[in-house]
Amino acid sequence: MVEQSDKILVNQDTESNTQLQQENVQLPANFVTTLNHIASTKYLLSQLRDKNTNTYNFRFFSDRIMRLLVEEAISQEPMIIEKRQSPTGSEYDHYRLKFSPEEYCAVTIIRAGDSMINEVISLLQGITIGKILIQRDEASEDKKPILFYCKFPDNIQDKKRIFILDPMLATGGSVNLCIQKLKDNGVDESNITFINLVSCEDGLRKIHSLYPQVRVITAAIDPILNEHKYIVPGLGDFGDRYFGSR
Ligand code: PRP
Ligand code: URA
Repeated sequence: MVEQSDKILVNQDTESNTQLQQENVQLPANFVTTLNHIASTKYLLSQLRDKNTNTYNFRFFSDRIMRLLVEEAISQEPMIIEKRQSPTGSEYDHYRLKFSPEEYCAVTIIRAGDSMINEVISLLQGITIGKILIQRDEASEDKKPILFYCKFPDNIQDKKRIFILDPMLATGGSVNLCIQKLKDNGVDESNITFINLVSCEDGLRKIHSLYPQVRVITAAIDPILNEHKYIVPGLGDFGDRYFGSR
């Protein structure tokens, strides 16, 4: 039985979270959820971190973790609980999602975020989809994000929850630009959940300082960024590895 506190950033027994606590970062307990409470996370993530993992296996293991992330996100949504009977005739608490899939929206940050959409659609069939193309300017020192394209559903401000999909959170520049575009389109930031594979402390702090009501679900929090603003240990360039472009 996993207790709620196992999912809470400040209570997790990881080096990075201990450091976050020591630095007195003002991050409330419900800001970020990791998958540390799921035993297979370490195994799956380590396959992705290995530089010798080929494209085929990188996709295979990524998709498996994406599914866990989306399941975690769904588990945090409002549920209606009602009494039903099991085949043995005994009563149990039956859970169903309060909102229909059409009341949700997933926004992928192209390109790497597109790798997550299949798992979302397979678990929330009928969900509406928004797309935003943001690329880091790799020539700039701070890896400033550049917005190229954006198309959200017309009524995005009425959606009960928006899931932003992007596997990597480094400086936080890309996801913060996406959050700002959503807010410009009338979305309430408290309705936004960022679903992410590998994050880092810098990026998490950046999101929380600008958009304190956004929630984050991530498989792992890595400790640092290197001089190229890549996550360390991280897993390299996710998009290149998933799509086999390098
Ligand atoms: C990657 C990743 C995020 C961003 C994270 O995308 O998918 O969008 O970098 O870095 P940040 O937090 O410093 O902004 P990238 O711009 O490399 O494009 P890609 O999706 O084509 O790989
Ligand atoms: N984008 C990636 O794909 N990986 C990183 O470590 C940082 C940004």
